[in-house]
Amino acid sequence: MKNANDKPLSDLFLPSLIFFLPLTILVLVPISQFDAFAEAAVVGEGKEVVALQTWKASLDNRSQYLLSSWIGSNPCNNWDGIGCSKSGRVNQIDLTSYGLRGKLEDLNFSSLPYLSCIDMHNNSLHETIPLNIGRLSRLTYLDLSDNCLSGVIPSEIGSLKNLQFFYMMDNLINGSIPQEIGMLSSLNELSLSNNNLIGSIPQEVGRLISLTNLSLSGNSLMGSIPASLGNLVNLNFLHLHENNFTGSIPSFFGNLTNLKMLWLQENLLAGSIPSALGKLKSLVDLRLNTNRLIGLIPLELNNLTHLRRFHLGGNKLTGQLPHNICLGGLLTRLAAQNNNLSGSIPKSLKNCTTLYRVRLDGNQISGNISEVFGIYPNLDYIDLSYNKFYGKLPKTWGQCQNLTCLKISDNNISGRIPPELGEATQLGELDLSSNLLDGEIPKTLGKLGSLIILNLNDNKLSGNIPPELGNLHDLASINLAANNLSGPIPEEVGECVKLLALNLSKNLFGGSIPLEIGNLQSLESIDLSQNMLIGEVPRQLGQLRRLETMNLSLNEISGSIESIFDQSLSLSSVDISYNQLEGPLPCIAAFQEAPFEALRGNKGLCGNATGLRPCSPVKSKKDNDRRGKRILILILLPVVGTSVFLSIVFGFFCAFWPKKRSIANEPRRSNGNLFSTLSFDGKIVYENIVEATEDFSSRHCIGVGGCGTVYKAELPGGQVVAVKKLHASHDGEMQNLQGFNNEICALTEIRHRNIVKLYGFCLHTRHSFLVYEFLEGGSLGYFLSNDEQAMRFEWSKRINIVKGVANALSYMHHGCSPPMIHRDISSKNVLLDSVYEAHISDFGTARVLQLDSSNWTSFAGTFGYAAPELAYTMEVNEKCDVYSFGVLSMELIMGKHPGELVSSLSSLITAQSILLKELLDKRLSPPSLQLAEEVVYVIKLALACLHPNPLFRPTMQQVSLQLLKQKPALQNPLDIVSLDQLLNIESPTSY
Ligand SMILES: *[C@@H]1O[C@H](CO)[C@@H](O)[C@H](O)[C@H]1NC(C)=O
Ligand SMILES: *[C@@H]1O[C@H](CO)[C@@H](O)[C@H](O)[C@H]1NC(C)=O
Repeated sequence: MKNANDKPLSDLFLPSLIFFLPLTILVLVPISQFDAFAEAAVVGEGKEVVALQTWKASLDNRSQYLLSSWIGSNPCNNWDGIGCSKSGRVNQIDLTSYGLRGKLEDLNFSSLPYLSCIDMHNNSLHETIPLNIGRLSRLTYLDLSDNCLSGVIPSEIGSLKNLQFFYMMDNLINGSIPQEIGMLSSLNELSLSNNNLIGSIPQEVGRLISLTNLSLSGNSLMGSIPASLGNLVNLNFLHLHENNFTGSIPSFFGNLTNLKMLWLQENLLAGSIPSALGKLKSLVDLRLNTNRLIGLIPLELNNLTHLRRFHLGGNKLTGQLPHNICLGGLLTRLAAQNNNLSGSIPKSLKNCTTLYRVRLDGNQISGNISEVFGIYPNLDYIDLSYNKFYGKLPKTWGQCQNLTCLKISDNNISGRIPPELGEATQLGELDLSSNLLDGEIPKTLGKLGSLIILNLNDNKLSGNIPPELGNLHDLASINLAANNLSGPIPEEVGECVKLLALNLSKNLFGGSIPLEIGNLQSLESIDLSQNMLIGEVPRQLGQLRRLETMNLSLNEISGSIESIFDQSLSLSSVDISYNQLEGPLPCIAAFQEAPFEALRGNKGLCGNATGLRPCSPVKSKKDNDRRGKRILILILLPVVGTSVFLSIVFGFFCAFWPKKRSIANEPRRSNGNLFSTLSFDGKIVYENIVEATEDFSSRHCIGVGGCGTVYKAELPGGQVVAVKKLHASHDGEMQNLQGFNNEICALTEIRHRNIVKLYGFCLHTRHSFLVYEFLEGGSLGYFLSNDEQAMRFEWSKRINIVKGVANALSYMHHGCSPPMIHRDISSKNVLLDSVYEAHISDFGTARVLQLDSSNWTSFAGTFGYAAPELAYTMEVNEKCDVYSFGVLSMELIMGKHPGELVSSLSSLITAQSILLKELLDKRLSPPSLQLAEEVVYVIKLALACLHPNPLFRPTMQQVSLQLLKQKPALQNPLDIVSLDQLLNIESPTSY
């Protein structure tokens, strides 16, 4: 059908085609039968239909549903994602981000010879790239990135003579790069990054002289970089980072004069930086960090006047930084940390007002700090720690209005802390520790309302702590240790209610510990050791629910502490040595199991701990062991709101355990005791719950979750609890009862303000359930889906939720041993209380219920939140939670599940086209300036968490720390920020 005369002919044919073609599909009559009477083109079209329909049928059901427009006999007739030439041949397949799941190799490319463009990025295509892809001689554009393709790149790829764009990044391709790739003489862009490629770069790549963009990063490539790459003079972007390349940086890179970005970081490159790099005058972004580079930085780099980013950190470079490094006035980021650089700061830096982030920490750089730095209106972050700067701290730092982090620890800075520093009101972290600072702490620091971390330890500071520091309501950590500070600990410290760590040790503080310390309900660590504190330990100190470590040693504290810490279950490490304490030790493990060194030197402590004299009379503890054969346990801990210690611990046997599970049942067989009780009757509580929910009547149902239905139960005492009744299939399979029992005990002891408290668990033949703290608000999913609720759910509250969830996950991943993985983070599992604080529910229960063991496959988290790797690996680790957290954060900002956006993000091209403001939940007015920074930062972190490769996702600890301290100023107005500007340009942990 090549000319207009064919038109009537095809019209004539149409009815019969419509009649015949479906038939051919149904009975799969060999198409060749039509050869006799149909035009060759018809046969070709028929083959195209068969190829596409066959492929569709090979995909999973959901994918077939997504392609439901693929019906009938004419793919050119509005089939989704199919494009045709004028002559009616399929020449384009664009199925970007459809969520298709299946094998690419089931698509018979031999039948689609007219294809010129294939874009299937961001689907779940797996297994290998079919060899017959080599038949697509007309192909100019091939994008298979962001799938789960494995196997090798077939050498047949070399036949794609017309290919201009080849994207294969973010798959699981292994093997080495075939040398045939050198035959793709039309290639403009080649990206194979983030796969499992091995071997070295074939030198045939040097033949691809049209290449403007070559990206092989994030593989396991090795060997030296071939000299032939010096031929690729059209290259703008060369990304070879994150591989195992050895050898030195080749000087022929000096020939690539069009290079704008040269990224070689995170390899094993040795030798020195070639002076030829000075010829790359167009370079905007040069990253050589984290290699094994040695020697001096060549002076020729002074020519790189277009540089905006220069990253050299983590090498063994010596000598000085090039003095003209900011001569072009464009430099925004300079990172040369952790080398052996010496000499002075580049002169051009003094007036480099574009600077945004600077890291020079961990070198031997010297200079009079009051002379070498200027005023930087854009500076966000500067770390000069571990160098040899001397002189007085200049007051000009106060004029860096956007500075959020100033770190100059471990230098030789002397003199006073300039009061003008209080003008840098964006400061989130101020670290001047380990210097020679003297004088008083200026009270103007109380103006740093954003301050989160304040480290002034190891100096010669004297005088009192200014009460103004009580204004720092966001402060999370304060370290004033090892100074000459004196006077009482000001009661205003109790106003820093977000404090996690307080270290005032090794000073001259007197008086008693202020009662206001009891306000610090977030406090995890307190060190008041080596002071001159007197008086008794305030009862309030025992009421800090998150306190883990406490050091009061080497003071003059007196009295008894027996009853003060009875409920401090979070305490894990204490040191109260060398005080005047007396009486019995508190009845918690932290004291009972403390080493003698932590208790010694007191006036009269007694107890069972080694080295102490026993208290009299000895009180016998309840012996748990005699119930060694019990099968199942229900533990109820005090319900919130009851002030009396109501710990009800009871177990009961379930004698009526179903007999049909007799084999697995063996170890559970009881000795006949129906119910054994400690202080309360488990059976009664069980019956109370059954009664309160009217035998789990739907009237009391408040939700349905992954593995059970949730009911609200008001117990006779008026306490309200949430009861999660497990689906029948989940209540069995308890192989190891003792282990199970231990786990449940551990879970009930978790006390974190962002984790729903688990009070207990019951296994029973009729109903098995978990008993939780009841939260009034409802799930996050509910708040976001209900328009009225969503409008009241402002940005600040949403950001707070992100932080809360991050804290909880960080605590469970890094604060617990072994780490606890949630596995099913979703907006359904995050509950809100009346003040919109987040509480994650169901923590740890996935593992306890052994959903992971035999039937893990049936429990792959909630659809849309599960990490992509779960599709192809059974290995579950913390990074799955990190991914789900990313989805959840996006959901909070967007007001709805991000859906396909998540997977399309890994393509920079898609990301460029998405403006951040388009994503924001339209039910709220756009965030104001400061909140906008936070919102942007949350998105940025979320994107990092959504990295398809789990290895590149940050840990939750990093995330929660970043949320705590980073609020970088926006470089652009919110309206013009596009997503690509927030994507993996740098990982959140590297500056
Ligand atoms: C590349 O640079 C080297 C010197 O570094 C030179 O010998 C060679 O001829 C250059 N190649 C091209 C293609 O310009
Ligand atoms: C540092 O520079 C300032 C200002 O030029 C000067 O007053 C001071 O004496 C210098 N300090 C040292 C230790 O050289």
